[in-house]
Amino acid sequence: MNENQRLEGQQVKTGNPSDKKSEKDYSKYFETVFVPPSLKDAKKRGKEEVKYHDDFKISEEFRGMGDGRKFYIRTYGCQMNEHDTEVMAGIFMALGYEATDSVEDADVILLNTCAIRENAENKVFGELGHLKHLKTQKPDLLLGVCGCMSQEESVVNKILKTYTQVDIIFGTHNIHRLPNILKEAYMSKEMVVEVWSKEGDVIENLPKVRRGNIKGWVNIMYGCDKFCTYCIVPYTRGKERSRRPEEIIQEVRELAAHGYQEITLLGQNVNAYGKDFEDREYGLGDLMDEIRHIGIPRIRFTTSHPRDFDDYLIEVLAKGGNLMDHIHLPVQSGSTDVLKIMARKYTREQYLELVRKIKAAMPDVALTTDIIVGYPNETDEQFEETLSLYREVGFEAAYTFIYSPREGTPAAKMKDNVPMEVKKERLQRLNALVNELSAKALEKYKGQTVEVLVEGESKNNPDVLAGYTSKNKLVNFVGPKTAIGKIVKVKITDTKTWSLNGEMVEELQSVEVK
Ligand code: SAH
Ligand code: SF4
Ligand code: F3S
Repeated sequence: MNENQRLEGQQVKTGNPSDKKSEKDYSKYFETVFVPPSLKDAKKRGKEEVKYHDDFKISEEFRGMGDGRKFYIRTYGCQMNEHDTEVMAGIFMALGYEATDSVEDADVILLNTCAIRENAENKVFGELGHLKHLKTQKPDLLLGVCGCMSQEESVVNKILKTYTQVDIIFGTHNIHRLPNILKEAYMSKEMVVEVWSKEGDVIENLPKVRRGNIKGWVNIMYGCDKFCTYCIVPYTRGKERSRRPEEIIQEVRELAAHGYQEITLLGQNVNAYGKDFEDREYGLGDLMDEIRHIGIPRIRFTTSHPRDFDDYLIEVLAKGGNLMDHIHLPVQSGSTDVLKIMARKYTREQYLELVRKIKAAMPDVALTTDIIVGYPNETDEQFEETLSLYREVGFEAAYTFIYSPREGTPAAKMKDNVPMEVKKERLQRLNALVNELSAKALEKYKGQTVEVLVEGESKNNPDVLAGYTSKNKLVNFVGPKTAIGKIVKVKITDTKTWSLNGEMVEELQSVEVK
């Protein structure tokens, strides 16, 4: 029995969705839902087939639950988390809740959390502290924690012990259960905890309220089976499950019909798309090749794992057109020895060979990456190899991180002889190089005319518009507000380290889809 299960007055159910009774039975048997997470269970990978459902509906018993109530969701994580927020917003709206962007106005506040590094988690604990006073002012307020942190036992234990202002904790596999969870929370005085540790099925028809109508996220797969030794994601997101191409294509068609200008295909490791299909041979290359014929001007995907990046995908991407000439290809380290300990399953040379192939097929491609510095026992020489690889590839931008131990992962058990001071110094040196190469990549644009998808007013100046080029470079420029939501031509007048400035030249009439 673990610590959670000993807590008084709470009834325990195992964290396996296959045990679950029908919804009706469930609420009858469990007055207070208490299903805590288990990283150990989350680690298991079974052969059982993924079931696909398209029968999600809001049952009569929940209708009107949100009438006169408002919800607020704060998102801390990656694009996947942002997209989950869109789904939860869709469920709230279907229940009759109204959206608000003020925590003071909200009747339900959800923190959709990220567990990738310790500082991401600390932000959430800090916020729970800040929100506590709202509970005293408004006793009916529901405060919930969902997303990747909910999947960790240590987090759930800490909340149960220290953050008793929290009413709800639910996991990444329980999103479709939001109506049931809310109902339980309204009825119960105890904290409602429902975190399935084993991934559930793929549910196709969950409602969504998308943020904006210019760019859209489209999940193509869930989970990750790579188990890089530092990473918590395979535990918080379950095993790799691909959505079927027909469903994805249908979703992209709908977005195109609604005038969306850009879609990003999402997955933790999109290159593994389709590997779990038993009834067909179909991968990311096949999917991209079909989607590019849909009349949507811009198509992106994230994130790629170098290991599964196959030649066919490169061949398809090289067709260009609405497939964007930017690839985010996380390398993590330039040292083969470190890559080995990270279990990335490629060497420095193999990564460079992949880059060579991509550049041969797409000479003008922009490559960006993710890098971790200060891995346990990383030597100065190994770090230098990361710097030299960065230069050799000529990355145009990068997300850089100091390694953060994640409880339950193999790396967290490794002894580490690198002092934090050294890690910080390495990060600074790497960031200086990242800035140098970004500025250099941007300098080349001076005087050129680029196509920009205009997203809205610039954050700092409402008189200036902002948008992104096909290579995902931020452009600030002067132009009419009517350009928002369109792809326009902008002449670049000035370049900075991370962005371009320019003037609008003309609106693109139509986008050619090859
Ligand atoms: N699936 C993606 C990565 C998702 S996490 C991929 O494999 O490319 C985004 C980035 O966070 C990773 O690429 C890695 O650079 C970083 N990251 C993941 N776990 C980390 C940890 N424990 N400490 C520091 N950075 C980490
Ligand atoms: Fe984490 Fe590796 Fe999976 Fe990316 S591929 S989510 S870094 S385990
Ligand atoms: Fe964070 Fe979970 Fe995404 S850990 S990076 S929100 S998959």
